[in-house]
Amino acid sequence: MDRIRLVGGNELRGEIPISGAKNAALPLMIASLLTDEPLVLQNVPRLADVKQLERILENHGVDIAVHGRRRGEDDGAGQRMTFHAADIVDTTAPYELVSVMRASFWVIGPLLARAHEARVSLPGGCAIGTRPVDLFLYGLKELGAQIEIDEGYVVAKAPKGGLIGAHIVFPKVSVGATHTLLMAATLARGVTVLENVAMEPEITNVAECLVAMGAKISGIGTRILTIEGVERLHGATVDVIPDRIETGTFAMAAAMTGGDVLLRGARAEHLQTALDILARTGVELTQEANGLRVRRNGNGIQPVDVETDPFPGFPTDLQAQFMALMTMSSGVSSIRETIFENRYMHVAELARFGADIRVEGQVATVTGKPTLKGAQVMATDLRASVSLVIAGLAAHGETVVNRIYHLDRGFERLEDKLSRCGAEIERVAG
Ligand code: UD1
Repeated sequence: MDRIRLVGGNELRGEIPISGAKNAALPLMIASLLTDEPLVLQNVPRLADVKQLERILENHGVDIAVHGRRRGEDDGAGQRMTFHAADIVDTTAPYELVSVMRASFWVIGPLLARAHEARVSLPGGCAIGTRPVDLFLYGLKELGAQIEIDEGYVVAKAPKGGLIGAHIVFPKVSVGATHTLLMAATLARGVTVLENVAMEPEITNVAECLVAMGAKISGIGTRILTIEGVERLHGATVDVIPDRIETGTFAMAAAMTGGDVLLRGARAEHLQTALDILARTGVELTQEANGLRVRRNGNGIQPVDVETDPFPGFPTDLQAQFMALMTMSSGVSSIRETIFENRYMHVAELARFGADIRVEGQVATVTGKPTLKGAQVMATDLRASVSLVIAGLAAHGETVVNRIYHLDRGFERLEDKLSRCGAEIERVAG
């Protein structure tokens, strides 16, 4: 199994191109199931999760083509891909494919909407909590679907003539349930109102893609989406937004190591809360024409308290990285995780660097130390893994991060991007 070996202590200086957002690319790819015409996506990141979803979509009958680099495009440019679901040849998403990535469960929405039936394995993904699917099932039932659980599969059938618009109020904000119900409602008969939806930038990216495909959606970017069902959707060409989690991760890495980095293509408005908090830790952030500049030159890191929340709050996907930063602050900070109940697996690993972190229930109390020491650590889930990499970049001596397949699910060319900015980091095979 591959490992990452790095030697900490170098400041980060230079430019890092921000890739397309994994969490937008995945639902955009799934949206291709809604039409028999080609959907072209630009700026798709090269990630293991994208590859995995390609396999799932191909199994449903989607033809996928990756286009070559266009003239003038550098290696930072994402992939341009076409997804063409001329016919849905199979409405089953099997366990072997779905169990490794939770987002693949979301195919249930478009399959039901277009093919009027779906049989989708209950999902897997990062082990960061129970992550149930009750909100999806509640919403799909409200649209008239009949749902049964059979041998680990959700078996769903639309009424004769297809799903029927409904007024759905989510009891809890869920990114996945919002994507799924939004996609399902585009082809339902009549009007659907979705209340208390997630309003993450990735939802807006998908909603705008659906509009470009002919869907009628209002309220995009708010907590209430109104969808007037249409008979069919058509093809479109859509850009994947830059990855705000990758942006925040590199911003925290630069904050931790010191230096001056331009995050090329980053959009500050997609992570304003996190940037405001970073600024309070003492980092200088400037939005420039072609990206976000992050600078910390010689100042200490101030402790700041943080609570994770749905967008526009502080993202849970940056919690582990922020905790890594706080291990080197000049005081005591508290971090409250409110989205997932088991998202502190990085705590034991950060402790190997000498970090002082106490967890009680949802709250982690981090007492900063002037220095961390390199260590052998184990990646446990996607975002936790990268918190270990950034801790290693700031620690004295050598760090080896084991089990890095989690990183490849969500970070494109991580070692390459960091080493080009002066980090001593390499992948060790085997
Ligand atoms: C998405 C993101 C993930 C991010 C998370 C929260 C993708 C591919 N993944 O995951 O990176 O960490 O949003 O921002 O975009 N819940 C229920 N019942 C349900 C569905 C969810 O109780 O039916 C709960 C979950 O257990 C969790 C909370 O709702 O406690 C939020 O989860 P959700 O927003 O659905 O996360 P994902 O869509 O899985």
